[in-house]
Amino acid sequence: MRKEVMLSTLGLRAGYGGKPVLQGLDIEVRQGEIVAVIGRNGVGKSTLMKSLIGLVPAMEGSIVFGDRPVEHLSAFRRARLGIGYVPQGRDVFPRLTVGENIAVGGMRAGRVSEADRERVLGYFPILRERWSQRAGTMSGGQQQQLAIGRVLVANPQLILLDEPSEGIQPNIVQDIARIMVQLNADTGVTVVLVEQNIDMIRAMAQRCYVMDKGRVVAELTREDLADGEAMRRHLAV
Ligand SMILES: Nc1ncnc2c1ncn2[C@@H]1O[C@H](COP(=O)(O)OP(=O)(O)OP(=O)(O)O)[C@@H](O)[C@H]1O
Ligand SMILES: [Mg+2]
Repeated sequence: MRKEVMLSTLGLRAGYGGKPVLQGLDIEVRQGEIVAVIGRNGVGKSTLMKSLIGLVPAMEGSIVFGDRPVEHLSAFRRARLGIGYVPQGRDVFPRLTVGENIAVGGMRAGRVSEADRERVLGYFPILRERWSQRAGTMSGGQQQQLAIGRVLVANPQLILLDEPSEGIQPNIVQDIARIMVQLNADTGVTVVLVEQNIDMIRAMAQRCYVMDKGRVVAELTREDLADGEAMRRHLAV
């Protein structure tokens, strides 16, 4: 049986200052999938993620999450419905401790229960070690894990991850990919991942949309991801 559609966009147009970056974009993600969105710099990948969470308004087209249209809802409302967003560049609060960052992430649910906290620390043990450390003093890889943990603590059904590998050492990239795959297997959480790092795409994605100039121009299966030449062509800057 095919799983239900968790997220879809139809004819989505969105951008800045009245100028669309997304030029009528269609994607469909099923419950429990890990889907990557790849493409060269500036094609609109982050704009898509911001538009899905509601930080960039839709000018036209629809975004359906579960069975409800969300394109007119605020980012806050969408987060409450179960969409977690990890922005490119991570944006943890640098002067707050790890524990305080996690507490902020849990505000959607009112407060962080011990069970939710322990669940997150089970996946990201480094956060337990660094619990009282200020986030801004940690490495890029540690901050990325905190950014994901901060979203995870609110029990999202869908996680939007924008270039988690950016500026992170290769071994930590692999660690994060492994943890996300484990999390997906354990909880069935759906993941939409923007990436340009071939290793991370291969380690995580079950399939892949290729974007160019604000549109989806190709769809790749897991088998296609093994073709190094094609992948380089789609990602070349
Ligand atoms: N806040 C903004 N105001 C105006 N234009 C913007 C803004 N953010 C992005 N853009 C423009 O929108 C286009 C798409 O940018 P976007 O950040 O979505 O690309 P991207 O695919 O995520 O690129 P990268 O791989 O470099 O992260 C680019 O031309 C960019 O200059
Ligand atoms: Mg981007």
